[in-house]
Amino acid sequence: MAVAILLVGGFGTRLMPLTKNTPKPMLTVAGVPVTEHQIAMAKSAGITEIVLATSYLSEVFIPHFGDGSKWGIKIKYAVENEPLGTGGAIRNAAQLLDSKESIVVLNGDVLSSHNLKEQIKQHEAHDADVTLHLTQVEDARAFGCVPTDEEGRVTAFLEKMENPVTNQINAGCYVFNPRVISTIPLDTVVSVERETFPQLVASGAKVFGYVESAYWLDIGTPRALLKASIDIVKRNGEFLAMPGSFIDPAATVAGGSCIGANTVIGAGAVIEGSIIESGCVIGSNSTIINSFVATGANIAENAKIASSCVTNSEILLIP
Ligand code: GDD
Ligand code: MG
Repeated sequence: MAVAILLVGGFGTRLMPLTKNTPKPMLTVAGVPVTEHQIAMAKSAGITEIVLATSYLSEVFIPHFGDGSKWGIKIKYAVENEPLGTGGAIRNAAQLLDSKESIVVLNGDVLSSHNLKEQIKQHEAHDADVTLHLTQVEDARAFGCVPTDEEGRVTAFLEKMENPVTNQINAGCYVFNPRVISTIPLDTVVSVERETFPQLVASGAKVFGYVESAYWLDIGTPRALLKASIDIVKRNGEFLAMPGSFIDPAATVAGGSCIGANTVIGAGAVIEGSIIESGCVIGSNSTIINSFVATGANIAENAKIASSCVTNSEILLIP
């Protein structure tokens, strides 16, 4: 049985103003926070215990997830008073796991349907130090570029480069041998991408790639967040209405939109390709297209909103 650390402490800068009061992993995709999708994925791979490595808006997670029993998994919380970077966060969170087993680390903003069980299996078969899930993207500039050799060994780790040497990228899910995590210094700002991984590769450590191109998306931008939700909703229908929501029979909801709990959609409103979170009131005859309306926002009657992020106090066009 492996255990996991979820990195959920980043600022979510590219998702402002949505992330002003809600940490990025708590934004909803198909009606539930991104973190819940990840917990389900980890659980289905046999993980029984998860530490949430929190920093920015850490106080939001505990009331929602509690001890994890609602999800049938044990959840603990590590809090960084100042963000420690991805490596520092992993080291800090690992103190809560007295595990000799493999430790899975997940970037908290990634939705992936890859076979984590198989990744863990290969990691253990190789007796590797770290095994990174790798996938292919068209434009690798915003990611960690990770070339591998014929045996699947990682030959370099190149975080965010202008001229990527390969379109094979770090997909943000790692399996660590726990002894490697204990070499990261405590209470120190460390980036696994810019420090730990390049150093491990340079020192000849056994760093392997697990290449699988299943459904994969980093939800770090408003467009990606909307795409993730629409993709999931469309697997089951034209739209998704969470329990407790009310959609006037004379409203139109389509294009993979999701309507959160206790949200009310007025008569004649048209909602297309959008996420409307919980507790919102959408005025009659308003139009909302390709937009994210955050928890508790009110939209006036006849409003026309397109490609925007809306909170209860702000509206910003999606770049
Ligand atoms: N606890 C904690 N503390 N978490 C953090 C911190 C921190 O100081 N800094 C970042 N995180 C979390 C973020 O919340 C996010 O879930 C994850 O670490 C990755 O940070 P991002 O800010 O989303 O990084 P990125 O998307 O630019 O790049 C990363 O992900 C790509 C795949 O999506 C890198 O790992 C790339 O190499 C990778 O390709
Ligand atoms: Mg990201």
